[in-house]
Amino acid sequence: MTDSNLSNELESLKEAAVAKIAAVTCSDEMENTRVELLGRKSELMTRMRGLGKLPPDQRPAMGKGLNEVRDAITAAIKGKQAAIRKKELSERLENEVFDITLPGRPIGMGRSHPVCSVLDELMEIFIELGFMVEEGPEVETDEYNFKMLNFPDDHPARDMQDTFYLHNGARLLRTHTSPVQIHAMLRHKPPLSVIAPGRVYRCDSDVTHSPVFHQVEGFHIDRHITFGHLKGTLELFIHRLYGKNTKLRFRPSFFPFTEPSAELDISCVLCGGGGCRLCKGTGWMEILGAGMIDPNVFEAVGIDPEKWSGYAFGVGIERIAMLRYGIDDIRLLYENNTSFLKQY
Ligand code: PHE
Repeated sequence: MTDSNLSNELESLKEAAVAKIAAVTCSDEMENTRVELLGRKSELMTRMRGLGKLPPDQRPAMGKGLNEVRDAITAAIKGKQAAIRKKELSERLENEVFDITLPGRPIGMGRSHPVCSVLDELMEIFIELGFMVEEGPEVETDEYNFKMLNFPDDHPARDMQDTFYLHNGARLLRTHTSPVQIHAMLRHKPPLSVIAPGRVYRCDSDVTHSPVFHQVEGFHIDRHITFGHLKGTLELFIHRLYGKNTKLRFRPSFFPFTEPSAELDISCVLCGGGGCRLCKGTGWMEILGAGMIDPNVFEAVGIDPEKWSGYAFGVGIERIAMLRYGIDDIRLLYENNTSFLKQY
C-alpha cells in the first residue's frame, strides 16, 4: 500500500465516523455510536489489533495514522456529548413542572432527652455559682472508688452484689461520682469548688433502679466552710429546680467520706406535702446525699484538714428527672421509645 492510499483510507474512515457522530441526537444514541466506533468490534480497533500482522516497514505509518483517527473520533465524541448534555438539560428545565402547592415531607425534630435536660439545667445552676466542671473515668480502681473515700475493707458497698468488678477485681465500674472528688483534689489545690457529672454503675435493676445511671457530684473546699454553706447552696439549688415553695429537710445519715452526713428530703413535688402516691403518703421525698468532707479523705489526698474544710453532695439525675416529669418507671428513660420521649 502506498502512503497516499493509506492516508486516503484513514481519512475516509475518520470522516465517516465524524459524520456519524454529528448526526447523533440523544445520549442513548451517543453511547451506541461510541461503542460502534471505538468498541472492541469497531473497524478502528480491528485494524489496531491487526497491526502486528503487517510487514514491519508498514507498521509505524499505519500505527501513527490509526492513533490520529482514534484521537479525532474521541474528540468529536467528547464535543458532541457536551452539546447533547446541554441540550437535554435545557429541554428538561423547560418541560419539567413543579407543583409548589404540594405539602412538604415532615422532618422529625430531635429534642433533648429528659435526663439531658435535667442535667443541663442542674449544671447551669452550679456553673453560675462559680463551680468548675470536672470529669473522671468510669472504669475505676478500688483505691479511688472506695479506699481513698474512707470505705473500710469490709464495707458492704464493696460487695459483688452492688459493684461491677472487671479483670478479676483489679478494676471496677465506679458506683458513684465521689471518686472524682479524689481526682480533682489531687489535681488542684484548694480553695476548690467542683461539679462533676457522669455515668455510674450498680448491679441493681427494678422500677426505680437502673444498672447504669447518672449522678452529679458537687463539692466546695475553702477555709471555714460549714454545714451552713452546704445548706444554703442546696436550698438555692432546690428552689431553682423545683420552685421557691419547696421545703427542705435534712435527715442524719451516714457516708464513709462525709462526717457529719445527711440526706436531703424535699416536700413532695406532686402534693406539696399533704401526702400522695408519689411520696407514699409521707409528704417528703428523698433527693440527695451530702455532708462535710471527712478529714480522712483530706488526709488521703494530702490536704491539711486543720486548715481546710468542705462540703460534698451527690445527686441522682434520673431520680430528679422522674420527680420533675412524674415518670414512675426508670426503664422508660432507657427504652428509646420516641413517642414516650417526645412528650418531654
Ligand atoms: N456518693 C454518694 C452516693 O452515691 C452520694 C454522696 C456524695 C453523699 C457526696 C455524700 C457526699 O450515694
